[in-house]
Amino acid sequence: MTASAPHGPVVARTPGELRSALAGAGRVGLVPTMGALHGGHRSLVRLAREHADTVVVSVFVNPLQFGPDEDYGRYPRDLDADVRVLAEEKADVVFAPATETMYPAPQMVTVDAGTMGERLEGASRPGHFTGVLTVVAKLFHLVRPDLAVFGEKDAQQIALVRRMVADLDLPVEIVGAPLQRDADGLASSSRNGYLSEAERTSALSLPRALQAGREAAPGGADAVRAAARKVLDEAADATPPVQLDYLALVDPATFEEAPADHTGTAVLAVAARVGTTRLIDNTSVPL
Ligand code: PAF
Repeated sequence: MTASAPHGPVVARTPGELRSALAGAGRVGLVPTMGALHGGHRSLVRLAREHADTVVVSVFVNPLQFGPDEDYGRYPRDLDADVRVLAEEKADVVFAPATETMYPAPQMVTVDAGTMGERLEGASRPGHFTGVLTVVAKLFHLVRPDLAVFGEKDAQQIALVRRMVADLDLPVEIVGAPLQRDADGLASSSRNGYLSEAERTSALSLPRALQAGREAAPGGADAVRAAARKVLDEAADATPPVQLDYLALVDPATFEEAPADHTGTAVLAVAARVGTTRLIDNTSVPL
C-alpha cells in the first residue's frame, strides 16, 4: 500500500493492500469508476461520503465491457490526475488494480445480464452489460461495501445493478446519484474530451431533444417520443451530423418500451454518435 499524496487517499493496487487499507473502516461506501474523473464523479464521491465512514473509489478500465471495435485502447487513463481529484474530494481509499490482478486468467464464469441487458445499450453493445455486472460483482466481493453509488446517467446500468443485487441477494445498498451536466447542458462524461468544438455544438442536440420530450409529456408517451425525435432528425442534418443510435421511452425498472398509454415515470433515453464519439443521455419523464 502506498500513500500517494500527503493527506491524500491510500492507493491500493491489490486485494491484499485493499484489505489492509480497510481494516476497521466502519461503514464502507464504494464508488466504482473507470477513471478520467470529472464533475459527475465528484458528485458520486460526495454522495458516498454522506452515507459512509470510509469512501473507496475503484479506478479500473474494465476490458470485459468493451466490444472489439470500441474505445478500450484509447479510453483516457491518468491515475495521478484521478488521485489528485480524489484527494480534493477527500476519498479515503483508491483501489486501482492492474488488469492481470482483476483477470489473472480469461474470465470463464460471468454474470448474465438477462433480457434487460439486451435492450438499448445492450443491443448496440452486445456483451457490454455482462462485462459491467461481472466486474461490479467482483468489486463488491473485493471491497465488501455496505453501499455503492452509481450515476443515473447510465440509467440502464444502475437498473441492472439493482436487479443483480436483488436477484443474487448481494448485501449492498445501491444509491443513485443524479446525472450531472456541464455548463452548456451536455451530460458530463469522460468521453466528452474526445469532442471537437463543432462536434460538441452538434452534441448539444441530445439534451435539447430530451428537454423537448419532457415538455411534451402532457400529450402522453407518443408525443414525448415525437417531440424528441424531431430535434434529433434536425440534428442528423447538422454539420457535423448527429447519427442516432436509439431514442426510446422506457419503463425504468425493465427498460421495455413504454406503451402509448403509459402512466407514471418513464425514462427517455438517447444514444448517438458525433464524429467517432458515442454519447448517451437520459431524463425521467412524468406521464
Ligand atoms: O460506469 C462505469 O464507469 C463502469 O461501467 C463501471 C460501473 C465502473 C464498471 O466498470
